[in-house]
Parts: sequence; structure tokens; C-alpha cells
Amino acid sequence: MTHQQSPTEAVAAVVIMAAGAGTRMKSATPKVLHKLAGQTMISLAVDTADALSPQHLVVVVGHEREQVTAHLAEIAPHATIAVQEQALGTGDAVRSGLSVLGEVSGEVVVTSGDNPLLAGETLVELVSRHRNERNAVTVLTARVPDPTGYGRVVRDHDQVVRIVEQADASADELQIAEINSGVYAFDAEALRTGIAALGTANAAGELYLTDVIAHARSAGGRVGAHLLEDWVQAEGVNDRVQLARLNAELNRRILNRWMLDGVTVIDPATTWVHAGVDLAPDVTLLPGTSLEGATSVASGATIGPDTTLIDVEVGENATVTRTHAELAVIAAAATVGPFSYLRPGTELGERGKIGAFVETKKAVIGAGTKVPHLTYCGDAELGEGVNIGAGTIFANYDGVAKYTTTVGDHSFVGSDSVLVAPVQIGDGAYVAAGSTITGPVGPGELAVARGQQRNIAGWVFRKRAGTKTEAAAKAAIEAAEQGRQAGEDNQQ
Ligand code: UD1
Ligand code: CA
Repeated sequence: MTHQQSPTEAVAAVVIMAAGAGTRMKSATPKVLHKLAGQTMISLAVDTADALSPQHLVVVVGHEREQVTAHLAEIAPHATIAVQEQALGTGDAVRSGLSVLGEVSGEVVVTSGDNPLLAGETLVELVSRHRNERNAVTVLTARVPDPTGYGRVVRDHDQVVRIVEQADASADELQIAEINSGVYAFDAEALRTGIAALGTANAAGELYLTDVIAHARSAGGRVGAHLLEDWVQAEGVNDRVQLARLNAELNRRILNRWMLDGVTVIDPATTWVHAGVDLAPDVTLLPGTSLEGATSVASGATIGPDTTLIDVEVGENATVTRTHAELAVIAAAATVGPFSYLRPGTELGERGKIGAFVETKKAVIGAGTKVPHLTYCGDAELGEGVNIGAGTIFANYDGVAKYTTTVGDHSFVGSDSVLVAPVQIGDGAYVAAGSTITGPVGPGELAVARGQQRNIAGWVFRKRAGTKTEAAAKAAIEAAEQGRQAGEDNQQ
């Protein structure tokens, strides 16, 4: 292995193995499409590989490959897809990967699609050790608390002699705590000849990539190990217990980073922040908060408790309490919640309010406008300084199509009104409480659209004689009469 490269020279290729069946996940979804912190395992693996800026990025797919390939076309159009027809083992997976590359020289780095916490910097360190030690193969290893199921690293001082799988290991070898992470840097030539020499004489009857090590040594090459202090990076996901554990660990790492950047997290154990979220210093996250997708929160805002925001933009000093919101914009100093449901297309202006038991959808709500209680506000445009009374319904749907309602600046809609769309309420207009509005209301007008009040005197005495209601009415009338007479006596 005599070729010399500067540390900045790109590796020839990274090959990500992702063709296994993932049987232990017991899922209709391919293993590498399961998500941690909102990202699929395969997209995390691609991001990690990209840290090396390899000349070629190859993903080996097989099981459920249509789904995996379609996803890769979206998230990693720069990747070359290699198909492994049958899952004959990790050695065969890499052979499939190399077959799409043609002749390459330099290093080939191999990783797994099910190794979600592996960091890009770790790959950079692995390659730099590989180059410094002039190794034929460098294995990324770790000492994990429970090595069960992993390949064990058999060493001779600082060199690796071989890797033995759990099923093939002797009792002594099972005592070895250092495991193979399944991540390697190979000299391309050593990898090619080693794979060509693989056999299936092992417990699984598979072509083990790890057997390339013995071949490289017998050809006179050096095999080194890069031991990871941060052993969690070496952990693989084979079942949903490991998925949950690594997801929690990834979340913990994301939260630690935000806390060190000035975000207050009251309860990290119940706060979930996806990898694509952006938070400013002096944001406060209360317990039970989940921030997902491309959500961003500006400085001074408080989110939670018990709030889920998916692709939501929150402005400075806003508060969002016990709320579920998706594809919404909440401007600076606005308040939302408790118990609010913001559906896609909601835009709340500065200092605006969406209050308790309010549902909004495609609603553009102006600065300082308040929708405080018990309202459905869909397909609506509300100006500035509007007040929407408790229990107002924007009736946007006639059973066939949806229509828009507009309410002008500084207008006031009384409680329990129904605004039957399409309808326009002008600037500076009033709607009387309990109205059903079906036609336009002009600026400065008061619209009253409800039955006139009519009181029928003596009805209770005629229709409810002998009830407590009648007795109460009688007592009240007598008391009023006595009061009136006492007033007259005083004046005399
Ligand atoms: C492998 C290693 C083991 C290591 C462990 C780390 C071998 C023989 N063993 O075991 O030493 O400790 O990873 O997690 O390499 N794959 C394919 N095609 C196949 C088989 C597997 O693409 O034919 C892919 C899988 O999708 C997965 C990766 O290779 O992404 C590892 O395969 P898996 O079956 O999980 O290997 P382990 O038994 O965990
Ligand atoms: Ca595995």
C-alpha cells in the first residue's frame, strides 16, 4: 500500500450498505427508511458520508429497493445506486457496490445504512489514521457495554488479526468487549482482491466483508483499528428497541447543542427537536414540546408545554401554549393557545392572538387582531385590530366548494356569529352578536341578522303554575313592588 495522498485529497468512494432485509424491525417499511429526529437512517448515513466529499457515493440497495431508491432520488440525487440482487452478506453487498464504480484507486470507505449516530468527523478521523498508518484496512471499533450480536475484534497489539462474528466466536472470543462498528477504510486494491477471495464457510453461510481483513494480512498489508471513545456512534439499529434508544440519544445530542447555543429546555426528557429545526438564543421550550420539520423559532419566544409544531415559523417573543400547528406562521409577540389548532396556511400577525379552542386554516390574520375563544376560522382574511367574538364560525364550505371571508381593519364581530362565505365585512364595521351574515357589511355599518326579541308577560303564571319557577317569579315581582312602595313612602 504505497500510494501517498495528502490529507485533503478526497477518498475514491464511500459505499453505504443498505440492502439487508431488516427482518428484526418487523415492518412494511424498509429499515433504512425508519426515522430518527425526523430524518431517515439512510439520509443520516448519506450526510455522514458527504463529510468526506468522496469522488463517488454509492448506496447498495436490495430489499424493498423501489422505495429506498425513490427516497434516495429525493434526498441524495448525487448518489449512485448499486443493486444487490440477493442479500448474500456484507461482502457481497460491497462487491455489488464496487461493480458500479469501474476501476478506482485510493481509498474506499464502507459504512452501513443502519448506523445513524455515526458522525462525519469520525469518518474524517478514520481516513486520516488509515493514511497515517499506511494501512490496507482500518476498522472503526468501539468498546460497548453489551457486545452481544456484534463482530468481535481480535487484536495483536495495535493491529487487527481478524473479526469474528457472534455466531462463529469461541467462548474466549465472546469475552472480547471491542466490537466492529461495521465501518471501514480500505485500500481499493486490497478490498477488490479480498472480496474476490471470500467464501461462505461460516455459521451464517454468508460472504462476510470482515474476512477481507485476514486476506489483506496474508497479502502483507497492515490492518489497524480506530477505537471510538464515543461508542454510541458505533451502535447499529436492528430492531425498534435500538431505534428508540438511538433516537433518544440523537435527540439528547441535538438538545445539548441548542442549550449550549442559548436555548432553555426545561425538560430534555420530554422535548423533541428534529435535526432540521432552527432555534435562536433565549428561546424557551417547556415540557412536552415537539418541534418538527423545518420549524424555526426566533429569540425570546416560549413554546409549550405540550405543543407540536410542524414546519412552523415563530417570531420573536411570541408564546405558543398547548398547541398543535402545521405549516403556519406566527409573527412577533403574537400569542397562541392554550388548546389551539393551527392548520396549514395560518398566518398570525404581530401581537395577534389565537386563543382557546380555536381552529384556523388558510387564515391570514392581521397585526393586533384577536380570535380569542371557541372559533373556527377557515379560508379567511382578517385585517388589523379586528376582534372576533367567542364562538364565531367562518362557514367556508357549502358541501361542494370552499369560499373566502374577509373582515376589514378594526372591525368587530359579536359572539356566536356565523359568517357564511363568500362574504365581505368592511373596515370599521360591526356585526351584532348571534348574527348569521350572508351578505356584505359596509364600512361603519352595524349588521344585525337575528330574530327580534319579544317578551310575553305572565307566560310562566299561565303555563308553569305550581312550579318553583312560578314561585321565584312571584317572589321577585312582590319584592320589586314592596321596594317601589317603600321608595314612595320615603318621598312623602
Ligand atoms: C455486521 C458485521 C459485524 C458488525 C456489525 C456492526 C459482517 C459479517 N458483520 O453484522 O461484524 O459488528 O455489522 O453493526 O459484516 N447488508 C447488505 N447486504 C447483505 C447483508 C447486509 O446490504 O447481504 C447491509 C445491511 O442492510 C446493513 C449492513 O449491511 O446496513 C450490516 O448488515 P447486518 O446484517 O445488520 O450485519 P450485522 O449482523 O449487524
Ligand atoms: Ca446491523
